[in-house]
Amino acid sequence: MKIYKQSELLTSLPKQFFASLVEKVTNIMEQGHDVINLGQGNPDQPTPAHIVEAMEKAVQNPIYHKYSPFRGQTFLKEAVSLFYKREYGVDVDPQSEVAILFGGKAGLVEVPQCLLNPGDVVLVPDPGYPDYWSGVELARAKMEVMPLLEENKFLPNYESLPKEVVKQAKLMFINYPNNPTGATASEEFFEETVQFADEHNICVVHDFAYGAIGFDGKKPKSFLQTKGAKEVGIEIYTFSKTFNMAGWRVGFAVGNPSVIEAINLLQDHMYVSVFSAIQEAAAHALLSPQTCVEELNELYESRRNVLIKACLDIGWKVTAPAGSFFAWLPVPKQFDSSQAFSDFLLENAYVVVAPGVGFGEYGEGYVRVGLLTSEERLKEAVERIKKLNIF
Ligand SMILES: Cc1ncc(COP(=O)(O)O)c(C=O)c1O
Repeated sequence: MKIYKQSELLTSLPKQFFASLVEKVTNIMEQGHDVINLGQGNPDQPTPAHIVEAMEKAVQNPIYHKYSPFRGQTFLKEAVSLFYKREYGVDVDPQSEVAILFGGKAGLVEVPQCLLNPGDVVLVPDPGYPDYWSGVELARAKMEVMPLLEENKFLPNYESLPKEVVKQAKLMFINYPNNPTGATASEEFFEETVQFADEHNICVVHDFAYGAIGFDGKKPKSFLQTKGAKEVGIEIYTFSKTFNMAGWRVGFAVGNPSVIEAINLLQDHMYVSVFSAIQEAAAHALLSPQTCVEELNELYESRRNVLIKACLDIGWKVTAPAGSFFAWLPVPKQFDSSQAFSDFLLENAYVVVAPGVGFGEYGEGYVRVGLLTSEERLKEAVERIKKLNIF
């Protein structure tokens, strides 16, 4: 068998930090231990029945068995426009300001390739979702980090970024509600972002993957609600979290028409659009009453409350996340690193948490815990941790 060498581009891609964690977890599970896995980001609830039913019906339509229109179905783009108007009061032109994506990840990875030339600078939040790094590397661009510090409520401090870096930057990613920190953004922060981006000619990509998940009665803001946002960027939305459709692979980008055109153009060359039956079910999800979304939000909030209370009860000084389905918990002092602490929990309590350093250098000192299992299992996880007498 011949072995073909991978391209330089492929071998330059960042290594998957969490692959080794998955391997460790699998080993422990194979030994027969009851592992509570709070390390992943895979929604645990099924897609709501009315969306599955819409898909079942749509899949029967022979028109959808043909190629989909290259740039996606107009009915889905119109549904996106109605959804943005209804949920956020934002006007979006379905034809020029919406691009249909194979999930949010696809769009996030595509954008640097759409807008950047080799060596161009991209600002990326640290800690942050690792797939931003992949897109930057595929575009042969250069990544500069924006530290997200607890003292700044996990928002980037634009003032503190080196002037040279800001001058060179052409693109930036932000993400609120935030993975991994669970922080949300204020209106003022988005206003500041628009101003910063406008002044320095930086295109903003706001990753709104957790847009539907905000706690304590505070609905997360869309970046596009900010005056001037569409002038300077786009927002990427996904059905994966809002409607538990992670396996369906569908999302969309909304905002600045020149960026939307660039995404569409790249996708013209790479794919034909998402299976139209999925697009029909997705449109149905956006246009139907959002009771399922409200219920999901309540479920995560209730789990959050249980987890945070249990942690505080055992003496773990944690802060509750304001949104997303993650909690970002500090590593106890006696551990040298987030990796050492998560290894300890895995080996001694069979509880999996994601070491913060996997999300970037500034993630060190924290672990990420997912709210993606039942309240009973969350309580049990903390109960097991209590028995280790760390706190
Ligand atoms: C911050 C963030 N952005 C984007 C995504 C991508 O989601 P999807 O590709 O399923 O739309 C995820 C998924 O975990 C995420 O955590």
